[in-house]
Amino acid sequence: MLVVATSAYAADAPRGQSIANANACMGCHAVNRKLVGPSFQQIAAKYKGDAQAPTKLARKVKDGGSGVWGMIPMPAHQSMSDADIRTVVDWVLAGAPEK
Ligand code: HEC
Repeated sequence: MLVVATSAYAADAPRGQSIANANACMGCHAVNRKLVGPSFQQIAAKYKGDAQAPTKLARKVKDGGSGVWGMIPMPAHQSMSDADIRTVVDWVLAGAPEK
């Protein structure tokens, strides 16, 4: 069960970055260029102004899936806590700032 706050993004950049590093997100994603998956800046641009994006993308990271950016699937991340997923998704949606 995913509990998602409805407040505006409060991206915690150092924590978002370290969660991304710790969970191998950076093996498939880079901040500013496409790797296996879209760059975090592309993702931020695509969902800019989409109030549903934090909820939608948190679920996508948790359960995995494909078809939005191409046919390559993102694996599920069932062992991550909802809080960590939410922090890293907020950071991605903020454009993955360095600080
Ligand atoms: C094995 C490679 C891989 C790993 C590891 C991975 N991703 Fe992805 N990610 C992808 C691919 C491929 C896509 C595009 C999926 C699609 O087209 O629907 C994607 C898409 C996304 C999206 C956009 C989803 C959408 O529906 O627009 C977000 C956000 C995201 N990844 C975040 C993360 C985070 C955070 C992590 C680490 C917890 C992570 N990814 C780990 C491959 C990966």
